[in-house]
Formats: sequence, structure tokens, C-alpha cells
Amino acid sequence: MSGTSIQPAGDLAVPAMGYGTFQLYGEDAYRGTRCALEVGYRHLDTAQGYDNEAEVGRALADSGVDREQVFITTKIKPSNAAASDVHASTRASLRELGIDRLDLLLLHWPAEDVAPLEETLEAMTELREAGLTRAIGVSNFPSAMLERAFALAPIVTDQVEHHPYLGVDAIRSVLTAHGGFVTAYSPLARGEVASDPVLVEIAAAHDATPAQVALRYLLDLPATVVIPKSADPERIESNLLALELDLTDADRERIAALERGRRFIDPEGAPDWD
Ligand SMILES: NC(=O)c1ccc[n+]([C@@H]2O[C@H](COP(=O)([O-])OP(=O)(O)OC[C@H]3O[C@@H](n4cnc5c(N)ncnc54)[C@H](OP(=O)(O)O)[C@@H]3O)[C@@H](O)[C@H]2O)c1
Repeated sequence: MSGTSIQPAGDLAVPAMGYGTFQLYGEDAYRGTRCALEVGYRHLDTAQGYDNEAEVGRALADSGVDREQVFITTKIKPSNAAASDVHASTRASLRELGIDRLDLLLLHWPAEDVAPLEETLEAMTELREAGLTRAIGVSNFPSAMLERAFALAPIVTDQVEHHPYLGVDAIRSVLTAHGGFVTAYSPLARGEVASDPVLVEIAAAHDATPAQVALRYLLDLPATVVIPKSADPERIESNLLALELDLTDADRERIAALERGRRFIDPEGAPDWD
């Protein structure tokens, strides 16, 4: 099923529905990832900062799913942004995950207090050229910083918060102009979409869930992949079924009107957003 919806970026085929693993620890991370692979996800999203790469890797190994069928992303901690740490920490991530090559390596947050962007991206490009990752990208980069990153390195995505309450038009314009794609994190607005009256109504009309409606809405936007997280086996499976939902133009217009610049992930030191 996951093969039915792919976001192409050059020769990189990215399954449009990924499984997010933020705040899943220990056995929860293992069980969630096992479940996701069992029901058909072929794209996993982890990070050095999530403290679960080992469990995600163990779940992949135990799942029996061919490694080559799964798109695996991890992210470099901002504190590892200096070139030598980019190299060392990526090798450590590969060991934790039990794989010899990533599909996508991201810089988790802008980190110019640690190292110049040029240095970080150059080190990431070297890792790509050495075959330790198929692609590189950034996360939490506003559009002007993203333009700078594109001028410095062959990046393919910016992983940013994006859901019906938060649009990313300026970022998407930069990405599509360079042949890249948006990776939408917190696509369920951290669970809030489930009780949104408009989404609930649209879901009822399609015999779907509000989460599926939110995910389908994002997937219908240009060059967009989504990485919802759930620890619950039923929700892990039902979220994936968003790939089978069809929304009408009228549905999409109603959902677009929910945009209100609402941001859930905005830690101290975050960049000036668009
Ligand atoms: N790059 C970054 O800085 C960054 C930041 C944040 C997130 N991310 C990535 O994006 C992924 C997703 O974002 P997120 O975890 O922040 O939020 P999210 O996917 O928008 O929402 C997760 C929340 O929604 C609930 N949920 C899941 N499916 C549901 C459904 N069908 N109905 C109702 N509630 C549902 C989950 O609860 P249950 O678990 O109980 O189902 C959980 O509380 C992360 O796991 C991570 O991989 C990246």
C-alpha cells in the first residue's frame, strides 16, 4: 500500500506516509515501529535526540521487512553540528539503527551557535558522497535560511511543523522551486485535529476519521509527505488508510480556511519563523 503514494525528488522515491517516533521510548518505540511496519508503513522518522534509534532499528530487524523497502530518516542533534561531530554522530546513528546507510539525514534545527551552516552542510554532503546516506536535508528552517541551505548543498527537504492550523507556503515555494519536498511534522496538530468540528464533519461524510482527513489534506498539497506519530496500534493502522481517502474540492477549501498560524513546537532559541 505504501508503494501507492510516493513523492519523487530526483531519483529519490519517498513514501508519502511516514511513521513518526518522537516521544516514543524503549518498548513503546519498538512496539510502535513493529506495528507500523506490519501494517504497511515503509518510511520511519527518528532522530539522535529522540533516544530511540536502537529500538527503531531493532524493530526493523525483527520485522522481517527488507531493509531496502524502508525509507529511514534520522536527524543530527544541533549540538553535533560541527563537522567532526556530524561525521561521528552519524556513524553512531547508523550503529544504533543497525544499518549501513540512511535514506535521509537531516540537520534537526538551525545550529549556527555551534558551527557555521556551511560547515555542517559540507560535512553532511561528504557523508552523502561517501554513501552513508542517500540524501540530506534540514529541519525547522524558515524560508530565507532554506534558500541559503540550497545555495550551499544538495538538500531535498525541510522537515517543518505543518497541519491544517499552520500553513508553510513560503517554505513550500522554496522547496518546489528547487525540486525538493515538504516533510510535514506534527501533521495531526499533536492530536488536536481529532476534535476539530469541521474535520469531524468532513470525516463523517466520508466514513473516515478526522486524522485521516487532516493527513489526506496535507498529502493533496504539492510536494508533501507526512509523518504522523501514534503509539496505538489501531490509530497507527487507521492513519495509514488516509492514503485511500478522496476529499472533494469543497472539503479542501473548508480545511484550508482552518489555517490560523498555530504552532505547537516553538522551543527557546527557535528561528524567526515565516
Ligand atoms: N523535526 C522536528 O523538530 C520535529 C518536531 C516534532 C515532531 N517531529 C516528527 O513528526 C512526528 C509527528 O509529530 P508529533 O508526534 O509531534 O505529532 P502528531 O503526529 O501531529 O500527533 C501525535 C499525537 O496525536 C495522537 N494521535 C495519533 N493518531 C491519532 C488519531 N488517529 N486520532 C487521534 N489522535 C491521534 C497521538 O496519540 P497516541 O500516540 O496515543 O495515538 C499523539 O498524541 C514525530 O513523531 C516526529 O517523528 C519532528
